[in-house]
This record gives sequence, structure tokens and C-alpha cells, in this order.
Amino acid sequence: MSEPAGAKPTRFLRDYRAPAWRIDDVELVFDLDAAATIVQARLSLRQDDAAAPLELDAEALELLELRIDGRVLGADEFSLAADRLVVPGARGPLVLESRVRIAPERNTALQGLYLSGTREQGFLLTQCEAEGFRRITPFLDRSDVLARYRVTLRADRARYPVLLANGNADGAGELGDGRHWARFVDPHPKPSYLFALVAGRLESIERTFVTAEGRRVRLVIHAEADAIGRCGWAMQCLEQAMRWDEERFGRCYDLDAFHVVATHDFTMGAMENKGLNIFNAKYLLADPASATDDDHRHVLAVVGHEYFHNWSGNRVTCRDWFQLCLKEGLTVYREQEFESDLASRTLRRIEDVRLLWRAQFSEDAGPLAHPVRPDRYSEINNFYTATVYEKGAEIVRMLGVVLGRDGFRRGLDLYFARHDGHAATIEDFLAALGDANGVDLSPWLAWYEQAGTPELRASGRHDARRRCYELTLEQHTAPTPGQPHKRALPIPVAIALFDAAGRALPLRLDGEDADTAAHERVLLLDRDAATFRFADIDEAPTPSLLRGFSAPVRLVQDTPPPALAALARHDSDGFNRWFAGDALVRRLFAQALAGSEPDAALFAAWTACVGSALDDPGVDPALAAEMLTIADATSLADGLADIDPEAVHQARARIETGLAVALASKLVRRHAALGDLDDLAVDPATQARRRLRNACLAALCRADAAHAPLARAQYARARNLTDRLAALGALLGMRDTEADAALADFAERHAGDALVLDKWFSLQATEADPRACERVAALLVHPAFRWSNPNNVYALPGAFALRNPRAFHRVDGDGYRLVADAILRLDALTPQVAARLATAFGAWRRYEPLRRALMRRELERMLGRERLSPDLADILGRSLAGT
Ligand code: BES
Ligand code: ZN
Repeated sequence: MSEPAGAKPTRFLRDYRAPAWRIDDVELVFDLDAAATIVQARLSLRQDDAAAPLELDAEALELLELRIDGRVLGADEFSLAADRLVVPGARGPLVLESRVRIAPERNTALQGLYLSGTREQGFLLTQCEAEGFRRITPFLDRSDVLARYRVTLRADRARYPVLLANGNADGAGELGDGRHWARFVDPHPKPSYLFALVAGRLESIERTFVTAEGRRVRLVIHAEADAIGRCGWAMQCLEQAMRWDEERFGRCYDLDAFHVVATHDFTMGAMENKGLNIFNAKYLLADPASATDDDHRHVLAVVGHEYFHNWSGNRVTCRDWFQLCLKEGLTVYREQEFESDLASRTLRRIEDVRLLWRAQFSEDAGPLAHPVRPDRYSEINNFYTATVYEKGAEIVRMLGVVLGRDGFRRGLDLYFARHDGHAATIEDFLAALGDANGVDLSPWLAWYEQAGTPELRASGRHDARRRCYELTLEQHTAPTPGQPHKRALPIPVAIALFDAAGRALPLRLDGEDADTAAHERVLLLDRDAATFRFADIDEAPTPSLLRGFSAPVRLVQDTPPPALAALARHDSDGFNRWFAGDALVRRLFAQALAGSEPDAALFAAWTACVGSALDDPGVDPALAAEMLTIADATSLADGLADIDPEAVHQARARIETGLAVALASKLVRRHAALGDLDDLAVDPATQARRRLRNACLAALCRADAAHAPLARAQYARARNLTDRLAALGALLGMRDTEADAALADFAERHAGDALVLDKWFSLQATEADPRACERVAALLVHPAFRWSNPNNVYALPGAFALRNPRAFHRVDGDGYRLVADAILRLDALTPQVAARLATAFGAWRRYEPLRRALMRRELERMLGRERLSPDLADILGRSLAGT
């Protein structure tokens, strides 16, 4: 397959070569200015391969001077192309000095050094992962070149009073002309993608943290003046993350200061630069008036995630970008465990599985499918995907299940000890985990190398005469692009068997000792099919399979609906209670989609389960809310071909509304009983109850317009953003006569608060109504919407394209056209963001013929455009491959 016009050449994992040159020490001096910044670099280079010319990555740099060992190079001694600086005659070791000019305020790609906010008020910052450092200075910009950095920042004091870079502070002072300087030394060798600097007018809050090793660390969070009051929550989260990593994984922090900075102009969520994390403001700022409960939990997760990278990513980094999941999959897993230990494990698991189904399973089912460790890429920015992150975390989780908690910890300890200060691979990771436990984990490499969602079929048979239960497990993975034949994977299947009274049975496989029997165990299916025979089973049991979602597979089970209903009520695994309910929903959905009336007994069994969760004070209210919230349209359509999104919407709505109508009186009761919550508390218990109260409200408003007064009253009374937004959403969803007035009130009340207005944009962009298309088109010219701001883009055209299937897939094609136009417009500004939006077209082949043709037409129209960015050209090219 060749690349489309505009795409970068494909790189292959098999072509990896160790660097021919290495850099031991880096000295950087920045003369900072938004219009023109001068960067001087002094690199101590070593040559490992005597035959290799010196080639440095260099992009969008104006080269002013180049010296080797003090001597200025003439124009004939080097060449500077679009992305490369070559010095053919250079022989190491040597000292290379360069002086370049860059223009932060013109950098709309937001990679390298750029300006956040306006020229007058904003501040300067960097984003280097994956390949942004080459836009700052010529360098060996690859993750296996680890160097020690010494960085001096110089700038006008009034305009840029705060100066920050990685590492420990090493002096500061005045320059005399109104300018000042500050120096930083980072003692830990690091790859260039972890470099960062920040300069500007920022306020801060500060705490002291004493590590388990006795190091006193300054924790400083920086934000612009109007936002600093909202950083307290993040500070608490940071302290909790640091303590947790010490206790759970024995990992301590390793510098004298840890800085965190918030910006409104960021393409991603947050970035783990060594000792200087930079956050998208939406994952750092939080207080009850301007952030929802979900936002509070996201801040906890993202602050944890970036902090945990200090070991899983920074101390041990990736050999190359093919190994991205080595740091991201492991860190997502660590972050999941952090939140699970602090709040509700079951709830976090349900949310992660929902995300896996919606984002990863669907990615695996289309032309953008790729292995967790891709073996090729054209633009690496396009591989920060649900597959690398979420499926990558699932693999780590499976290893945790198989090795057990202590075994996994031993393995991770060995991994960190062996590779500290080095760049590692997935093979290194598996070897460390295996060696620490005396097992061979190499079969697990297949999970990293093979794309596609495995299907796991389970069928059970009880043999009354032999008093045994036979469970047959089979696996199958459908072909994905470039991988026509799939191998069998090791699949851990956690299982329990329940008797008619809901008691878990002792599980003894044929031939095992009676006294070893546990009530839950993990079966490992490591071939295409296997049968497991459990002994001493007197009656046909109900199997509870894949407990805790022990593997990222699509489970096809023959468990009859009454047994699923029993699991949904009584399974001792909270996740599997929800999972059984979801299985019932999917059967009802299939019937509704086929145009038949959903089976009455099945429907009654399911609503009874949800009803009992609602009534039972012993059930965590957050879980009751999850039972009440059925799978989204994208995950319900998982596995379908010729999708008609309108039909999917109608079938789903029928079930959702049916549930609400059937449970109306219970919902009214529970909603009222949850009435008196502390509006401003954000502890997990209050959040859980608020979540259920708002889930009840949403369901009631779906059931009957007569409940509108509840939503109107909540809107008027709300003191926190969670309740106000929930009420607004309910009014909008039922097209209440007061919905437009409430929308206008909300915008006025939160005018000037960009993060809250983004939620206002998203709410309207995701309304499951074809007319959302016109609404989005109108909002694109709203004064609070700017194309250059990624948060705005994700909130409006992004939310529409990726989270409103009914309107995006409008049969007249207007949704597709709107989004394609937005993508083309964005591509000239922020290519990374344009490419993300374009993934909305990825699954085009799975739709019914008319939509398929319309989507294809838009893909081809975009691909036909001149001067596409490599980011967008790559996504479009792969989406259309094979046409
Ligand atoms: N290292 C990434 C940030 C990143 C992503 C940099 C892509 C460059 C390109 C960071 O650790 C990360 O994973 N951030 C996530 C949030 C996280 C909680 C999953 C993000 O930005 O979405
Ligand atoms: Zn990460």
C-alpha cells in the first residue's frame, strides 16, 4: 500500500536501528518572545556508527548559525531540507552549537513552542510529544536518545514573570534591560519528547509533599489569574496520586519540585513532561459551580495518569513510537487502579468497558484497525488511539489477573529496576514480568501484534448422571486490514457457577483435589477451543463468565434470559450484574431492530432487575444509575453490518423509553427520596447519589412530558453544574417549551467561562435529533467559538461527528458535509485535530449502501483537496484503502 499525496513515508517496526549518534548533554538558552524566539543549543554528540553521517531532525526552524567544536560551518558544509539538517563531514565526538529563530505566535499546530491565549495576555509553552522538539531546535528527536538537559530561559520580566522548565531550579537573576533569567537542571536523562518550558504571567498554589524516601518536594500548580481559584481539587488529587503510587507500587517522586500548568490551548488532554506536566484546563480546573462531578473524577484520573508516567514512561521510556502502548497502556492501567482503589472499582470498570466497546471495538471493526503495537505508521500522532490506550490497558490488566496482585507487583518492580534510565520494548516488559514469576509470557505478545476483537463463544452442558458441568470455550478473530489469518490468543476467563439459590459453587476441575476448590477461578483458553469439566455439580448451574470483564473480547453465550436476569440481581461480582443486564438489553435491542415487538417476558425480566436495583438501598446508587443507562447506539451496533443509524436510534429509544415508562412510579419515589443532597459536596458517596437522582430525572422526562416541571425546577434551583446541566439536558431532550429559554439563560450565566460554554456547545451538538445539524452550523459562528481552539472544536463539530450518530448520519448527507467542511478548514490550522475528526468517517463500509456512498464521497472530496497535512492524508488514505 502506498501513501496518498501529502502523507509521510511509512515507517516499519522491523526497520528499527539503534541510533548511529547519541547526545549525552544538552544546553539550551532561550530568548523568549511571542513573535520571535531565539534558541541556542549546545549538544555533546557521540558517534556509535563511524559510517553514519550526522542527520538531525529540524522542522519549521530558521537556522541562524551552526558551529562544530567552536568553528562556524560554511553553507557548503551542511544541508537543511524541510525536515532534516545534515552535516556530511562530521565525525564524533563533537560539540554542535546551533542558533535558530522560531515564531511561537504563528504556531497554530500547537506542536513545539507556541502561544496560549492572546499576544498581549497569553503565555508561552511547549508540547513536544511525539515529534515536536524538532520544531524547537535541530536534534536527534527520537525516544531512544536520552540526554541530560540544562536550560536557561531569558525574557522580559513584566511580560513573562514566571519561567519554568524541567528539573530542579539552578539559579535566576536580572539581565539589566528589564529582562530576567532562570536556569533549570534535570538530573534524569530523558528523551526530547519530555522536554518542556513555560513562560508568562501565571498565578500559583503550592504545597509541600514529603516522599516515603524523605524527599521534600514543592508541588506547584500554575494557572492564569481567573483560573487559579479552581486548582485546589487538582492539588488534592496530586497528593493522593503521589501517596498511592508509593503504597501500591513502591514508586516515589524524584525531583525537588513538581510543576503543573493549565492551558486552554492544547490538542490533547495533558502531557507528562518531566517535572513539568502541562494540562488542558478542562482536566485540571474543577469546582462544583463550574465543573461537573464527572469533571472532578476526570481531573483525578488525568492528574494521576500524568503523574504515574513519571515512572511508567519517563524513568523507563519507549525505545521507539511503535512501543507507545508500553507507557500508555501501562499508565492507563495504573490510573484505572488508582481510581478503583480510591472510589468505586465496579463503577470504574463499567465506565472503562463502555469506553472500550464504543471506541475500541468500533475502531477494530473498520479500516483504521491496528495492533496495540502497530508494525507500521505514517503519522505517529494518529496512533494515540483507543486501541493503544484502552486495549493496551486491557492486556496489562489480563497479565495482572494471570500473575495475581503480588506476582504483578514483583514483575513491575523488576521491570523498573532493569530498565530505569533506559528505553524499553514490549518484549522487555513481558520478560521482566515473566522472569519475576518464573513463567514464560511470550505467548502474550500475540495480543500486542494482532488487531481485531476476538469473539469468545461459551456453551455449557450439565450431565446429571456424571454430576458434572462441561463448559466449552471457543475463540475466533475476524480478519483485519493486512492480517487475514489470526492466531489463538491466551484468554483469561474468570468464572463462577451459581446454583438455583444464587450460591456460588466450589469449582473443581476433573482430576483436581477436592480441597483446592475455589468459588471463583480463572480459566485460560490458549487454543482455538477447549472444554473444561467441573466435577460434583448436582444441578444445572448458571455460569457467570468473564467476571470483571477479564478479557477484551466479544462474549457470545447461550445463557437463557431467566439465568441472565438472576445474575443481574444476585451475581456477587458487581460488574457482572451490570454485564448481565447489558446482555438482556442487547437481546431486546436485536428484536426491536428486526422490527418485532420485544419479547414481553424478557422485557419484564429486565425491567424487574433494574427496578430492584432502584429499590434496594444496599445497591450502590451509582451502580443503580448504570443499570438504568443502556448502552449507547455505537456499542449496540457492534458487530452489525449495513447499519441504518436511524433504525438503531429508534430501536434503542423504544427500549429506553419502555424501561422508563415501566418504572415510572419507582423512579418518582427514588428521585424524591434522593432530594436532599449537599449541593456542593463532591465526595464519592454524594456524587453517586447525585448520579442516580439525575439518571432518574432523565428517565422520567423520557417517559412522560408531564415530568417537565421536575426538570424546570431543578434547573432553576441548581447550585452546582452537574445538576444544572442535567436539568438542561432533560429539557432539551424532551423539547420542552422552556428549553430554549434555559439554553439562553445558561449561556448568559456562564458567559466568559470557556470550559462551561464547551459543555453548552456539546449538549446541543449531541442532541439525538437530526436538526442538531442546523443547530451546530449556527453555533459555529457563535462569538465564543474559535476554530483555532481544540477544546471548542472537540465540543462542537467534534461532539457532533463522534457522539451524535443519529444526526451525523442524516440520510440527506448534510451531517457528513458539515463535518467534512469543518475538517478541511481545520487542517490548515491544527492538523492533529482535523485528523481526529476525520476518524468519524472511518467505519463507512459498515453502513447501509446509501450512507456508505455519501460517506465515501466526502472522504474522496477531502482526499482530493490540495496541500493536505500528513496527519489528515494518513487517516483519509487508510480509510479509503482498498477502494
Ligand atoms: N502522553 C500523553 C499526551 C499526548 C498524547 C502527547 C498524544 C502527544 C500526543 C498523555 O500521557 C496522555 O495519555 N494523555 C491523555 C489523557 C490520559 C488520561 C489518557 C490525553 O491527552 O488524552
Ligand atoms: Zn499517557
